[in-house]
Amino acid sequence: MTTKMLIGAIFALILTSSEAQAETRLSSTDMGQRMYQRNCLHCHGVTLDGKGPDAASLSVPPANFHTYLSRLKDDAELEKTIKQGKRFLGMHNWEDTLTEEQVHDLIAYIRSAAPQVKGNSEEGRKIYNGKGFCFQCHGYEGYIDRRPQMGPDMRRMLDELDPKPADHRNPVTLQSKNDQERFDTIRKGHSGTAMFPRKYLSDENINDIVAYLSVLRSEGKRQVTPSSENRK
Ligand code: HEC
Ligand code: HEC
Repeated sequence: MTTKMLIGAIFALILTSSEAQAETRLSSTDMGQRMYQRNCLHCHGVTLDGKGPDAASLSVPPANFHTYLSRLKDDAELEKTIKQGKRFLGMHNWEDTLTEEQVHDLIAYIRSAAPQVKGNSEEGRKIYNGKGFCFQCHGYEGYIDRRPQMGPDMRRMLDELDPKPADHRNPVTLQSKNDQERFDTIRKGHSGTAMFPRKYLSDENINDIVAYLSVLRSEGKRQVTPSSENRK
């Protein structure tokens, strides 16, 4: 066999086997779509807008995957809801019916039809250190000891806050478990604390801040900031 023939033979072999594979294996998104049409469409709708034929009979409408808040959720949250269901809202759990892989395929399909939104951390930085006034309590650039100039009364008030403002550069001390919680903290505040609700920021503004907070945490992890230890 000449080298040329050999290469030709190998090429033909690769070609046929990859063709065969393409026939038998659908992409994760396609698998997810099939599964969705069979199990979810009658509630969540053909276009994933929550307006399936069965939606009208439920007291709480099924999630519309195109809403900003839904697209903000990370894969882990969608996975948790699909597995555990929303018992009191009419969606049963799928943990026993679907395999791990099937749940991931479903999420791949939902993402392809309603892509996740990601904030712009550079925009978030501007808002945090500007019109959001986050720096007043959390410090410029999230350095808790870099607060703006203020009168002694104001400073004493801030120093005496209980609970104290969070140190956004110290991941160990932060309470929020995910971006949804961070979003809710900023939008709704923590009642009974100085972390009051922010009605005037748009969803986009808050999502940008949430992206910026993630930058602060990862920078903080690398630096082990002396500021967070001096804090008292
Ligand atoms: C009987 C109707 C029904 C069926 C069938 C159903 N759901 Fe739901 N689903 C709901 C309801 C109701 C909610 C809760 C909406 C809310 O919290 O406001 C929900 C919420 C969700 C959420 C949370 C979305 C979010 O933004 O928080 C996900 C993810 C989800 N469903 C996925 C699925 C998938 C995948 C299937 C198919 C395997 C499915 N659902 C089948 C009714 C249904
Ligand atoms: C007047 C002071 C004050 C201002 C201004 C302020 N915060 Fe806070 N923030 C707090 C306090 C106090 C807490 C701790 C609340 C608690 O422990 O329940 C907190 C907690 C938080 C948390 C939760 C942190 C964690 O533990 O996971 C986030 C996120 C947050 N703030 C973001 C912001 C953002 C973004 C802004 C600007 C839009 C802002 N804060 C403005 C006082 C403030």
